Amino acid sequence: MADWVDVAGVNEIPPGGSKVVYVEDAKIALFNLGGSFHAIEDVCTHDGEELASGKIEGEEIVCPRHGARFRIKTGEVTAPPAYEPVYAFPLRVQDGRIQIRDDRWE
Ligand code: FES
Repeated sequence: MADWVDVAGVNEIPPGGSKVVYVEDAKIALFNLGGSFHAIEDVCTHDGEELASGKIEGEEIVCPRHGARFRIKTGEVTAPPAYEPVYAFPLRVQDGRIQIRDDRWE
């Protein structure tokens, strides 16, 4: 089972903000939705655009390239031109630090 990896402090990401981190080969976008933190792979499943710089609308991130939408909490796709979800990573907060676990290969 993959270990938890410390990636950021909670005060580095304000509500409505995002931050890109790397865990081994995974590029991950962290989001703060009103004080709850979520982590999805930072690669749009339509054509590979990074998602972290997209606009957050409600609980969705809008891909800045062609406008596909994904649920930040689950990675589920909600609007084309993407049709596949992005991976949502397990996340926990411990002592003010955000930790991610890359369980993609378990
Ligand atoms: S690359 Fe994201 S919608 Fe096309």
